[in-house]
Amino acid sequence: MRRLLNGKHIVLGVSGGIAAYKAIELARDLTLARALVDVMLTRSALEFLQPLPFETLTRRKVYSEVFVPWTDDLHGHISMAERADAMIVAPATANTIAKLVHGFADDMLTVSALACTAPLIVAPAMDHNMYLHPATQENLRILRERGVRIIGPERGPLASGAIGFGRLSPVERLVEAVRAACAVQGPLAGKRVVVSAGPTRESIDPIRFVSNRSSGKMGYQIADAFLDAGALVTLVSGPTALRPPAEATFVPVESAQEMAEAVAQETAAADVLVMAAAVADYRPAEIAEHKIKKSDADLALRMERTIDILASTNRPGLLKVGFAAETRDLLASAAGKLARKQLDLIVANEGPATMGSDESRAYLLTRDGEPEELPLMAKHDLAQLIVERVLRLLENGAKNPR
Ligand code: CTP
Repeated sequence: MRRLLNGKHIVLGVSGGIAAYKAIELARDLTLARALVDVMLTRSALEFLQPLPFETLTRRKVYSEVFVPWTDDLHGHISMAERADAMIVAPATANTIAKLVHGFADDMLTVSALACTAPLIVAPAMDHNMYLHPATQENLRILRERGVRIIGPERGPLASGAIGFGRLSPVERLVEAVRAACAVQGPLAGKRVVVSAGPTRESIDPIRFVSNRSSGKMGYQIADAFLDAGALVTLVSGPTALRPPAEATFVPVESAQEMAEAVAQETAAADVLVMAAAVADYRPAEIAEHKIKKSDADLALRMERTIDILASTNRPGLLKVGFAAETRDLLASAAGKLARKQLDLIVANEGPATMGSDESRAYLLTRDGEPEELPLMAKHDLAQLIVERVLRLLENGAKNPR
């Protein structure tokens, strides 16, 4: 689990289509991310599913009808909507979409949608002809115009046997959308952040390259944490085995030179640059046009310097965060890099113990103040801490502009 929804109240509305069974997984994944999920099943959804799996997974009551005795709350039928950080309707049938457009309020799902002022996400799923019908298309257009986030549907095999648009978007994508919706009011809303991650690859010939052990995990966690804080994130990444966050602008690159060009372009209008990438300092001076054939003699590669991306990115007002992975003289080296590369913050750690791991033991160094020693922690917790520090630096910078 990369990102958490700690204590966020999510209303999950489930309407009656065959894709309703996937809402069970959605309820589980949101709960696993530590959200408090209030599930509302329409009467049609109850034809497909029982409340029990939802109650078991969310450990909370499941709602359906409006007119039931409300024992625990005075507001009863609207209290879940009022405290919600986001509401998602998944699957949303053509009928429920039409009801949302016209403001019907004849079950808990539609009442909640009307009473909810938090962001609303709608994930349609239905037969493709129903989806493509002008009535449904017009209804979706109206919802979109009102600021509702429509996710999917996807093209693929449908329950009818036909292939077309109508499948519910993957649960992972729906969880991402809920996270993004919860971040809308985040402390970094509107800020533009560029994060670099992963290793670079420097070609030797068309087949081979020189690279390093960076997994990209730290940078991807940082991109996630900035998204959760509401920032607009661009992730410039060398090759990794990780799935980029759906809500970030993703710029895949290979070499240090490509990364330098992407960072230059993406930081032109950015507020923050976080260089978590392990950028090659050297590259083969020449890339052989054809595969180098082996011979009995030894092979020497002449390497030339690459550009130092962080040191050479110096737009006024850009807050710069760097990393220092060292095997000795950790604090002195990190302090040197902080000054030399004109950084606002540097995260220093023991390279070999950190690379590829899910955890990190790090120090944080800023221009003023003592280095801060952090305990061993999960990279996603470290990522959140870095975001908090960046937020503090931005606030201080706003008070004392450089
Ligand atoms: N960095 C960069 N461009 C490079 C090399 C490094 O932008 N060509 C960035 C890294 O992303 C990191 C910081 O600079 O945020 C420090 O990287 P590191 O490899 O620890 O330091 P170097 O400057 O390469 O110094 P050395 O290898 O001598 O430790």
